[in-house]
Amino acid sequence: MENLRHLMNPLDFSVEELEDLFDLAGEIERDMEGFSHKCDGKILATCFYEPSTRTRLSFETAMLRLGGKCLGFADATSSSAAKGESVADTIRVISCFADICAMRHPKEGAPMVAASRATIPVINAGDGGHQHPTQTLTDLLTIRSLYGKLSNFTIGLCGDLKFGRTVHSLINALSRYEGIRFIFISPKELRVPDYITEMLRQKNIPYEEVIKLEEIMPQLDFLYMTRVQKERFFNEEDYIRLRNFYILDKEKMALAKEKMFILHPLPRVNEISVELDDDPRAAYFRQVQYGLYVRMALILTLLHIQ
Ligand code: NCD
Repeated sequence: MENLRHLMNPLDFSVEELEDLFDLAGEIERDMEGFSHKCDGKILATCFYEPSTRTRLSFETAMLRLGGKCLGFADATSSSAAKGESVADTIRVISCFADICAMRHPKEGAPMVAASRATIPVINAGDGGHQHPTQTLTDLLTIRSLYGKLSNFTIGLCGDLKFGRTVHSLINALSRYEGIRFIFISPKELRVPDYITEMLRQKNIPYEEVIKLEEIMPQLDFLYMTRVQKERFFNEEDYIRLRNFYILDKEKMALAKEKMFILHPLPRVNEISVELDDDPRAAYFRQVQYGLYVRMALILTLLHIQ
């Protein structure tokens, strides 16, 4: 296929290309019906080797809303991976069936291997603790829609910054915009990986690392909460010790700016108290809605459909 393009990392798209993508997502938000036949006859394959609810259903809904169809698997045990088939072979087969593929895999880099063998666009829907570019597109579109721009704000990222791939992808993506200040809030065992802080230092982007959420709360324009990534811990004891480290509740929110938005990639475990769900600053369910628009825009873009 000519102009075959994949999405592995949020930086695969230039800032200008992302603007176009977000503008298209905005058009879709305003007129969903107008896009309902854009993918007539097209097929999306979702190959999920790791659990997911939102991301897979969001991709499938995106394709269905565009008029296309979906196939795939939601569990590696029901695919030929259980018989020992490689990702490289699976994607060659999927390339014969579908027009585009979204892949999630517990191994870092697996979707890149698939992309190198595919004859259809492959989208990384999360690879291990590495990247989650479509969650990042979702986060960027949400910030842009709520704040009006993608520059000049302070964002706090809180929780499991070590294993949280959405955090890694988002910091990477935001490092290209002006006037962003990062505050990383985590216990010392779950600090953001060195390769990320190193990248920020090289680009002269300001960041701070703190343990206590309360002390920096008043400075934030966005608070990005994350769950402790149980499945990536090597031992259960550490997980149990760290899982209740941060619980955002009304008391802590009283310290926040009146217009500070709370984001979360979801699923939430207990890190945001449900008592905050009706707070107008709680934006995590709106984020899911933006995720649908941006995935629709992404499918159209990668399939070169106008
Ligand atoms: C995230 C993921 O899978 O990394 N979920 C999602 O896709 N929205 C976050 C998480 O699992 O904690």
